Amino acid sequence: MNILVLGGGGREHALAWAIKQNPKCDRLIVAPGNAGIAEIAECATLDAAKPALVVRFCEENAVDFVVIGPEAPLAAGVADALAEAGIAAFGPSAAAARLESSKAFTKEVCDACGAPTAAWARFTDPAEAKAHVRAHFEAMRAPIVVKADGLAAGKGVVVAESVDDAVAAVEAMFAGAFGEAGASVVIEEFMAGEEASFFVLVDGEHVLPIGTAQDHKRVGEGDTGPNTGGMGAYSPAPVLTEALQEQVLARIIEPTVAEMARRGSPYRGVLYAGLMIDAGKARLVEYNVRFGDPEAQVLMMRLGAQALDLMLACAEGRLKDCAVSWAEDHAITVVMAARGYPGDYEKGSEIRGLDAMPEDSWRMVFHAGTARRDGKLVASGGRVLNVTARGDSLQAARDAAYAMVDAIDWPGGFCRRDIGWRAL
Ligand code: AMP
Ligand code: GLY
Repeated sequence: MNILVLGGGGREHALAWAIKQNPKCDRLIVAPGNAGIAEIAECATLDAAKPALVVRFCEENAVDFVVIGPEAPLAAGVADALAEAGIAAFGPSAAAARLESSKAFTKEVCDACGAPTAAWARFTDPAEAKAHVRAHFEAMRAPIVVKADGLAAGKGVVVAESVDDAVAAVEAMFAGAFGEAGASVVIEEFMAGEEASFFVLVDGEHVLPIGTAQDHKRVGEGDTGPNTGGMGAYSPAPVLTEALQEQVLARIIEPTVAEMARRGSPYRGVLYAGLMIDAGKARLVEYNVRFGDPEAQVLMMRLGAQALDLMLACAEGRLKDCAVSWAEDHAITVVMAARGYPGDYEKGSEIRGLDAMPEDSWRMVFHAGTARRDGKLVASGGRVLNVTARGDSLQAARDAAYAMVDAIDWPGGFCRRDIGWRAL
């Protein structure tokens, strides 16, 4: 079959790499792709946020199956348009994608189905929001969390430690720091604990767990410094024990899936539950309606070719009969970023040493922000390479990944040296 993957980051390189290993895949196109993806697939130019253009592209290229990587095309209704055109796609409808595109919507769904999450309130009036945070800090010494309601590319969340920080966050959001996303603001209770991510496939009705992972959001070692899109990840996350996974399925995910069906917008695709774990209990921090980036890199490394079969079964409503075949393995990915990220960084620095890198089903350098200029591989984004390895233990996977990092000659880049520390 002919398969189109939408997106061009490390997540999509990992998806394309897994899909390509499956004999069902004849032709693989990725739009827009990147320099690493170009080595295993055709890259195409296409505005993925325009549903009609995606449909036309699929018709012109006889695409049988579309895998939608990022959230923006999902929120824009690309999956709806493909369904209408009779083209199979992996990813939720725009209505179901509201589980990521509106934080207030997710909170309403949680309340309706009894899923445990932080106490919350939504504001459209800045004065009321500020009065709310002032009252909170008068009554309690705990931080409070201020969130732009809409999509803000992962940047619309402020964990405020003081009343001044909280008021400043409220003012910035209403002043348009996140555009339309901040016209409505959700303020919620701060949850303490350890964060972990749980990934399930949902076909509207049935839920199939496909792995756990832990991300490293801060730029600096020991989880310090500003937040990023993610500096590394590993799978499985031992903090999400079998018992906790059962608890999360029964109390959070299955009730959510049932509530979405009840509302007439059944969820189809991968559902990524960001969880806070404290004293043996998990609460929902947020849902994402796509694979995580860089979490997809470790999940795809562990799933390999079966990822395509699972995504097809998900799209076709056949998850009830599916099982994941698991190896007793661990995977880790180390993000190499351009110096300066997540602040200002330089583009165009040359990366050497990748051609000699042994790559196989245990070791892969997935590309995030790379391009080819005059035959040279150069950095073209903030997060640039995802150095990924699998092993019989997390330690073995980690040693393999850092050995690859050390073989990459890129003075313009840096990485955290402590990915996986919580689990080791
Ligand atoms: P979100 O975009 O909702 O995932 O928020 C980004 C990050 O902010 C999360 O991964 C958490 O680290 C943190 N966060 C969000 N909401 C809360 C909360 N209620 N309590 C503690 N931390 C939170
Ligand atoms: N790595 C976090 C995310 O994809 O949202």
